[in-house]
Amino acid sequence: MTTAATAPTLRTDWWRDAVVYQLYIRSFADGNGDGLGDVAGIRARLEYLRDLGVDALWINPWYPSPMADAGYDVSDYRAVEPAFGSEEDAAAMIAEAKALGLRVILDIVPNHTSDEHAWFTAALAAGPGSPERARYHFRPGRGDGPPNDWRSVFGGPAWTQVAEPDGTAGEWYLHLFDAKQPDLNWDHPEVRAEFESILRFWFDRGVDGFRIDVAHSLVKDPALPDVGEEDETLLNAVGGAGHPFWDRDGVHEVYRGWRRVADSYADPKVFVAEAWVASPERLVRYLRPDELHTAFNFDYLGTPWDPAALRATIDSSLASNGTVGAPATWVMSNHDVVRHVSRLGRPPASGHSLNDLAPVEELDLELGRRRARAAALLMLALPGGAYVYQGDELGLWEVEDLPDAVRQDPTFRRTGGAEIGRDGCRVPLPWSGTAAPFGFSPDGATARPWLPQPAAFAGVTVEAQDGDPGSMLTLYRAALALRREHPALGEGPLEWLPGPDGVLAFSRGEGFVCMVNLSGGPVALPAGAEVLLATEPLDGELPVDAAVWLTTA
Ligand code: GLC
Repeated sequence: MTTAATAPTLRTDWWRDAVVYQLYIRSFADGNGDGLGDVAGIRARLEYLRDLGVDALWINPWYPSPMADAGYDVSDYRAVEPAFGSEEDAAAMIAEAKALGLRVILDIVPNHTSDEHAWFTAALAAGPGSPERARYHFRPGRGDGPPNDWRSVFGGPAWTQVAEPDGTAGEWYLHLFDAKQPDLNWDHPEVRAEFESILRFWFDRGVDGFRIDVAHSLVKDPALPDVGEEDETLLNAVGGAGHPFWDRDGVHEVYRGWRRVADSYADPKVFVAEAWVASPERLVRYLRPDELHTAFNFDYLGTPWDPAALRATIDSSLASNGTVGAPATWVMSNHDVVRHVSRLGRPPASGHSLNDLAPVEELDLELGRRRARAAALLMLALPGGAYVYQGDELGLWEVEDLPDAVRQDPTFRRTGGAEIGRDGCRVPLPWSGTAAPFGFSPDGATARPWLPQPAAFAGVTVEAQDGDPGSMLTLYRAALALRREHPALGEGPLEWLPGPDGVLAFSRGEGFVCMVNLSGGPVALPAGAEVLLATEPLDGELPVDAAVWLTTA
C-alpha cells in the first residue's frame, strides 16, 4: 500500500455515505504494554485503517473515568483518561488521522455522568434542596423504597439512596444504568449549556463529530410517574411517545441546539445518534433537517438472515429516512451486541444479546463467517453510510467462554449473572503472532490484555489474513476500495431486481448489481455480467449464503 504524500481533500458531505470504523479504544491496540488499548496504540495503527479504506473513526469514550461501565461513566468531559494517554497524544492522533484522510468522531455521554464527576460529588455534599442536586434527579423515597418503579437497564432498581452529609439515610438519585452513572436533569439550563460547551471544546480541537450515547433518554417526565408494568422487560420497553423516559418529544429541542453548534463551524460537524426507539418513523424524528445528521439503524442490526425480513427492513428504512432527506446508516455489530458472526451462525432470533440467542451448542462458526462475508457485501452496497465494528474486518466472533471472574460488564454483576453481558464482543484485537497477546500489546509487555484472548485468535490475526485471497480482511479491503471508486455506490437509488425466491438482487444506478443468495440452493448469475467481487468461488452460479457484486452491460 502506498502512503499519501499530501492530505486528501475531504468532502463536506462526507458523512452521507461514509464508512465509519468503530474503534473500541480499550481493545484496539495497546501502545504502552499495560494490557489496555490506548491513544498510542491508535496512532501506531492509523495506516492500517487508512489502507482498510474507511472514511472515519468513531472512538468510544476516552475521557477520565472510574470505568464502572468501560468509560461510559465520565468524570471529566474535557480531558483524556490518563490510562489512554495525554491530551497531547489525543491532539497528535487527531492531526495524524486527518493527514491520512480519516475523520474523527468522539462519543459523548449526555444522559449521565460518573458519580465521581465534580457535579455529582458537589450534589452529594450540598444536601437536599440545593442547587447542586437540581442538576440530577434527587427525590425522597416512597416509604422505605425508591421514588418509583423504574428499573436500571443493567438490572435492579434505577434508584440508589444516599447518606446525607449528616450521616442519615437520605434522598434517592436516578440512574437508568449503573449506580455509578447518575442521570442528569436535562430540564436544567446549566446542563444544556454545559454540553454545548463540551461539544465546542472538542470541535475546536479538530474533532469532526459525535456519536451520542443513549440519545433517546435525556428528557424525563418531570412527574417521574411509575411505568406501571409488572414485567421487568416491559418496564424498559421502548414504547413510542408517552414513555416517561425513553424517546420523549422534548429531547428534540436539545438536538436542535446541538445542530446549531455544529453548523456554526465552517467545516460542518456531524452527529450519529444511538437511539433504540420503537420504529423507523420514531427514529427519523431525530434526523429532521435541523436535528441530527445520522442515527444507527438498529432495526437492520436486529434483522434475522432471512430474505423477506432483510428486504422489508431495507425498504422501510430507506422510505422513512427519505421523508426527512437523511441517509440510512447501516450497522451489524458494536460493543453492546453479540458479534454478528456468532449471531448469523445460529438459528434465526430477534434479539442480539447472548441471552436472546440459541445456546452455544447450536453455533456453527463456519456458517456464521460465510454469512458474515455475504452480509458485508450486502451492507456495503446499500445506499447511505455504514459502520464497521473493529474486528468485523477480521471475522471475529463472540468469545462466549470467558470465565466469570474476568467479566467486567456491570450487567453481569447487577443481574447476579443472569445476563451474561457484553464482554464477549470486547476482547482485544489480534494483530500478529501465534499466542496471546497476538500483537495487541508490544513485545515484552508485562500486563496481560484486560480480557483474555482465545487461542483460536491465532488463525485470524491481521498478519495471518494479510494477502490471503480468501480472508475476511482481504474481502473488506477489496469491498471498501470498490465502494470508493464505483460511482453507483454510496448514496443514490436502489432498485430491486426480479430473481429466484430467496435471492436479494438489486441494482445501484447504471450497471451495478448486488446479489445475495439466501435460498436453499445455488442460483445462476445473470448472463453477460462481469464479477467485481464475490464472497465465495463462483462457477457460473452463486452458491448458498454467498454474495456477489457485478457490473452489467
Ligand atoms: C450505550 C453504550 C453502552 C453503555 C450505555 C450506558 O448504550 O453503547 O455501552 O453501557 O450506553 O452509557
